[in-house]
Amino acid sequence: MRSALPRGAVSAGRLHAAMALLQSCRFLAAPRLAAAARASSWWSHVEMGPPDPILGVTEAFKRDTNSKKMNLGVGAYRDDNGKPYVLSCVRKAEAMIASKKMDKEYLPIGGLADFTRASAELALGENSEAFKSGRYVTVQGISGTGSLRIGANFLQRFFKSSRDVYLPKPSWGNHTPIFRDAGLQLQAYRYYDPKTCSLDFAGAMDDISKIPEKSIILLHACAHNPTGVDPRQEQWKEMAATVKKRNLLVYFDMAYQGFASGDINRDAWAVRHFIEQGINIVLSQSYAKNMGLYGERAGAFTVICSDAEEAKRVESQLKILIRPMYSNPPLNGARIASIILNTPELRKEWLVGRKGNLLLFCSLLNVFTVFLPTCFIQSYAKTNLLLSILCQDSTFLRAFLLRSISSLCWRSVCAVVQIL
Ligand SMILES: Cc1ncc(COP(=O)(O)O)c(C=O)c1O
Repeated sequence: MRSALPRGAVSAGRLHAAMALLQSCRFLAAPRLAAAARASSWWSHVEMGPPDPILGVTEAFKRDTNSKKMNLGVGAYRDDNGKPYVLSCVRKAEAMIASKKMDKEYLPIGGLADFTRASAELALGENSEAFKSGRYVTVQGISGTGSLRIGANFLQRFFKSSRDVYLPKPSWGNHTPIFRDAGLQLQAYRYYDPKTCSLDFAGAMDDISKIPEKSIILLHACAHNPTGVDPRQEQWKEMAATVKKRNLLVYFDMAYQGFASGDINRDAWAVRHFIEQGINIVLSQSYAKNMGLYGERAGAFTVICSDAEEAKRVESQLKILIRPMYSNPPLNGARIASIILNTPELRKEWLVGRKGNLLLFCSLLNVFTVFLPTCFIQSYAKTNLLLSILCQDSTFLRAFLLRSISSLCWRSVCAVVQIL
């Protein structure tokens, strides 16, 4: 019997059979098609890259279903339940932004002026001659990383005397790709001595004194990542003198201002000292950690110049560099940071609040969990040995001194916890 379907139409049964045939063909042809697609793809040569060593830990953390898991990859504020914590001064600044119905206009290429000025003041100090005379330029960057990248690109374009950037050994893992991808070459100077779990000051000074003149040296301004070991003020002074003698360009990375000592001014001491010594540094800052503005990506890049006119020229070139990269920086984080820095009550709350909270600063927690036990064991063994020599084997005297030292250490730990 002839079908009653119009010409060209297919019965439901036949359509089904055709679909099934197509499906099975597709199934058989799928691997071949995929291989052919791969061969003809523009990206067939792209190899699978390794996950980021630090942010990869966060990804693994998110995948893990264990309720007792703890993320030691990225340092971030957490509440007592391990949940992300936003500082109350940040919440207040956000409330101000919402209540004033602030607009969402583009920022200028160099960023929010109130933010960049306050960032420079935070780093250099309100009484800094360089700050007061205006012989500096600060542009807003995309947090610490983006600010470092602006700096690296600026050096690549305008620092003509060398391509070499000397990093401390070890340094934050992202320093190498930031400078390398900007076209600079990485070198290293000794910094940390794993045997003593402390600064290898003699090694650092020896290496720094041999760095070819007019090279670039990167210094962590405070809370060196990943060791947590910083030079003392006398050691910074010696470093500054050597750096000046070698005529090195100093790049300070200050991602943790306020975290090392709890005091923003003390943590900026090295930066300020170098500038006072006539060393025209460049500097990157981040508000990710000290304001807990991680995802807001608020940061700054500063160049100290010889005068205000030079600063204007440098600023013009920084803008030319930034414009094709991302046109202008994100508004929200800089606005929050700017409100906190420029509103006396919020600034006070921020400065006191950071001290008042016992911060779960996981990057340093890493340092503590890895380095501190070794450090304690080693220094205990060394103290014991030293005391045996000093006390000429008088067991009583040795035990007495050792107990006094232990109790002093314990009291210092208690005092530090109280301060925190
Ligand atoms: C030494 C150092 N510099 C810069 C950064 C950049 O941080 P962000 O881009 O999150 O501000 C970090 C972050 O861990 C750091 O440890």
